[in-house]
Amino acid sequence: MRVQVKKTKPEAYRGEAIVVCHFEDSKKLAGSAYLLDRSSGGLLSEVINSGDFTGKHAQLSVIYTRGALPARRVLLLGLGKKKEFDLEKLRRAFSKAARSARELGIAEFAIALDPQNENRGLEDATEAAVEGSLLGLYRFTQYKTRDDKEGSREIKAISLIAAGNAEARRMKAAAGNAEIISKAVSYARDLVSTPSNRMTPREMARRAKDAVVSKKVRLRTLDSRKMEKIGMNALLSVARGSREPARLIILEYSGGRRGEKPYVIVGKGITFDSGGISLKPADKMEEMKIDMSGGAAVLAILKAAAELELPVNLVGLVPATENLPGGNAYKPGDVLRSLSGQTIEVISTDAEGRLILADALTYAGRFKPRAIIDMATLTGACVIALGDEVIGMMGTDDGLKYDLRSAAMETGEKLWELPLWDDYAELIKSDVADMKNTGGRAGGAITAAVFLKKFVGDIPWVHLDIAGPAWLSKDRHYIPRGASAVGVRLMVRFLRDRTAAKRLQTGSRS
Ligand code: BES
Ligand code: MN
Ligand code: ZN
Repeated sequence: MRVQVKKTKPEAYRGEAIVVCHFEDSKKLAGSAYLLDRSSGGLLSEVINSGDFTGKHAQLSVIYTRGALPARRVLLLGLGKKKEFDLEKLRRAFSKAARSARELGIAEFAIALDPQNENRGLEDATEAAVEGSLLGLYRFTQYKTRDDKEGSREIKAISLIAAGNAEARRMKAAAGNAEIISKAVSYARDLVSTPSNRMTPREMARRAKDAVVSKKVRLRTLDSRKMEKIGMNALLSVARGSREPARLIILEYSGGRRGEKPYVIVGKGITFDSGGISLKPADKMEEMKIDMSGGAAVLAILKAAAELELPVNLVGLVPATENLPGGNAYKPGDVLRSLSGQTIEVISTDAEGRLILADALTYAGRFKPRAIIDMATLTGACVIALGDEVIGMMGTDDGLKYDLRSAAMETGEKLWELPLWDDYAELIKSDVADMKNTGGRAGGAITAAVFLKKFVGDIPWVHLDIAGPAWLSKDRHYIPRGASAVGVRLMVRFLRDRTAAKRLQTGSRS
């Protein structure tokens, strides 16, 4: 798949299809749609005047030009009401357009944007349109040995129509960013969709090499022996039920100044969660291959940040293991001594995520981070609390939470904060150890976060519980059902916003 910029007039574009937009409440055709209409002797206004096309959000009309334009088809795309318009609307509309183009068997289509009309900057609009298209076209077909008719159709290229050289340059840069981010999302979706018989901790560590895109990225992995040496017993205890050895994946991206404190992002990497001795019910257990979604997101974020060359130092940590029952498995009642030295009484072996994260969070401290953000499919309780579209956010730092909230608004990866009051700590007090690994059903997402907090110390920290939105059972706009890679776009936006602010600051000083 290629994304390219073509310098031409929309009405001169020669190809299979050209997409132009129309607002529901705008009476007259505007911008590119107007130009196409004028050149074609009113093809578009006929569709609108007939009432067949109102411009409702993501409505699409396929208009065959029959020689009235050099393009064979015009895809007239509704953007909804002007007042309600935002970049998320643009992403969603373009995912619809791209998927429709693919269904039509079109190999290349063009996009003619009118950023003035769409009331957004050229870069933002371009990025959103390309991102929506690419994300919506994602498919996981690796394990299909026979192509069904639909599956064999692929869009080969998307062409962005630019009026002049300056515009072309700006669009190219924006499209490049969108491609980097969408590719990172696809990479994470692939990792998550890959079944656990293939996506083992070792395989995850191997695939982490895909994130080593420049000399500024360094990949290391700790094997069981090394982890044992330093005392990562909480993580290793979870791994004991499995024949697959655990790994701690460490990715470092040095895009910032030397010595500048890094952001450390930690992602839960349970490649399969059976619950262990506290075995899960069989129903839907197959979905527990997604329990490494946080880890996959971390690898993808590092990859994107490095390709975008963000001026920031970043560390990605992925504790990776299976959680299985077995003759050597850890058991309820066991007491574990974590890397931090704190002891943990195991109540449920199914609350394994917080155990591997505990050691990873402690390890994160070694990098003297300016902040730690962890991402984990941590609790079913979070899904009950917020549903399956929303990330649960808990943390100790208002600045981080504020910036994550605005990144969420910008990317459409919604999050909502749950409280983290000290009172909850009561619920994980243990009679035999420093704490226990579950606090009962009530407030389960919060008690999990309270548990994690005991391992971060004073470092500004936010925990994102992505158990709900990590996996979709139904298609949703630009997220085909299956792995969503939620959190990747959110965190990349967060880092871009933070580094943009920094660029401004340093700019004003010099
Ligand atoms: N991986 C699960 C959480 C999960 C649930 C992820 C649904 C995605 C969808 C986690 O390890 C788990 O089993 N949590 C338990 C915790 C409980 C034992 C305290 C849960 O939520 O039931
Ligand atoms: Mn579990
Ligand atoms: Zn789990």
